[in-house]
Amino acid sequence: MNAFTNPRLTWCDEFLVGHGEMDSTHHEFVDCVDALLCAPDGQQGTALDAFADHVKRHFNEEDSAMRDSNYGSAGCHTDEHAAVLKSLEEVRCALAQGRHDVVRDFALALADWFPRHAEVMDLGLARWLNQRRLGGSPVLIQKQKRPVTQAA
Ligand SMILES: [Fe+2]
Ligand SMILES: [Fe+2]
Repeated sequence: MNAFTNPRLTWCDEFLVGHGEMDSTHHEFVDCVDALLCAPDGQQGTALDAFADHVKRHFNEEDSAMRDSNYGSAGCHTDEHAAVLKSLEEVRCALAQGRHDVVRDFALALADWFPRHAEVMDLGLARWLNQRRLGGSPVLIQKQKRPVTQAA
């Protein structure tokens, strides 16, 4: 593939979801997908391994956060993650058979999929987590009550 015609995925602030850890992880996601888009045939395996390491951690963190916080809209979100992971394993099998075109198509599909996923699914989760972190935490309320009681 001609390097000058490679499609790229580069960071765009429209991907921000306002949750520091998730935004940092999403920067890594963009870098991994871009590396996959740019990888020549001989480096696709390495780029795919790096993407796999990243995305398993990335999705596990979000799935765990949804589960641990009783997030009400988790179903569709975890289903999308699972679909990507399933495709990843299929693409790994295809690459083992020398199907470099399948890896490139997968990278393109990821670049197409991510902006909408971030805008809808991840932004919704980030807002939920921020709301729980910044407002209405019973631990914080308890901490504020103790000094008043002790001072009285
Ligand atoms: Fe995410
Ligand atoms: Fe997600």
